[in-house]
Amino acid sequence: MDTLILDPTDENIAKAAKILADGGLVAFPTETVYGLGADALNEDAVKRVYEAKGRPSDNPMIVHISRASDIGQTTRMLSPDIVNLIDNFWPGPLTLVVKKRDEIPKTTTGGLDTVAVRLPDNETARKLINLAGVPVAAPSANLSGRPSPTTYEHVVEDLNGKVDVILKGEPCRVGIESTVLDMTGDTPMILRPGILTAEQLEAAIGKKVEIDPAALRTANEMKEIAEGRKTDDVIPKAPGMKYKHYAPKAEMLIVEGARDNVKREIERLKGLNEKLGSKVGVILFEERAFIEAAHDFFARLRDLDNEGVDLILAGALSDTDGVGFAVMNRMLKSAGYNIVKV
Ligand code: TXA
Ligand code: MG
Repeated sequence: MDTLILDPTDENIAKAAKILADGGLVAFPTETVYGLGADALNEDAVKRVYEAKGRPSDNPMIVHISRASDIGQTTRMLSPDIVNLIDNFWPGPLTLVVKKRDEIPKTTTGGLDTVAVRLPDNETARKLINLAGVPVAAPSANLSGRPSPTTYEHVVEDLNGKVDVILKGEPCRVGIESTVLDMTGDTPMILRPGILTAEQLEAAIGKKVEIDPAALRTANEMKEIAEGRKTDDVIPKAPGMKYKHYAPKAEMLIVEGARDNVKREIERLKGLNEKLGSKVGVILFEERAFIEAAHDFFARLRDLDNEGVDLILAGALSDTDGVGFAVMNRMLKSAGYNIVKV
């Protein structure tokens, strides 16, 4: 298929919106990562998204809307907490999981009775959704398993020839995907950590926000599970969190410890591997530069892959900071939970 790669002019956004409303696939920028959109009410269109990405069909999609009041298209019940969160954080990188209306097909929600909804903080995205006149199901616009795309060039790399339109935009401001917050239980629960942290959400609603225990497992536990030495008795509540993710083509190892030790060990390992003929890339963010790390991490993985490195050595971030925790969640998955402590 020929993919139209378009500048985000009003005319082009209108053209893309028409294609979307007619069942086509349109990739578009958001403030977190680029999304691959389809009419959330059109099961055939949604199925084509799963196909284009090579995504397992039990992995539900986030439904994007262009104004907060459109949340009524996806759910009937709005609790005071939900209203508060919308007031405080929309438009923005917060996805709310709520009880779904019958009109939202189960193909969109991976068979679940709940639906994830988000109002993105990006002008092009909101114009597109508004003109399409339908809620837009959109996973990240990468091939399943690859790092999420934070520039339109990343989307072209993965999806050119597989989708109808790629709308260009600026590099994404946030760089990691939205915080997914489950609002269907007694206590709000973070299913996927993001730039909006538990502390910020708690401050807005004045009550405890939990983190899905599946997201809190250590690298060691995850490795034992992957190698079959331990059974996995904690199933992530966000189906997408159980899949292999963000994998660069290179091998990857995380080095964790005090800053100076980490630097020294990365240099040592780099030297040893280069002596053996490997091309080595390093990802080492400034200490406590969590926002910058979130912004750059996925793009660094793709850049290093394009440079053809064999091995990526990455310095662990402190995960006691909420944003650091969100970036480490991605870094550990990219590295297949390969980590050494120094
Ligand atoms: O920032 C973002 O959220 C980006 C942009 C494009 O909006 N989208 C994104 O979508 O990251 P995706 O499909 O790559 O990730 C959606 C995550 C998955 O882990 C999925 O399992 C979870 O949200 N999810 C979606 N609907 C859910 C539901 N009803 N219950 C639990 N988890 C859900
Ligand atoms: Mg994704």
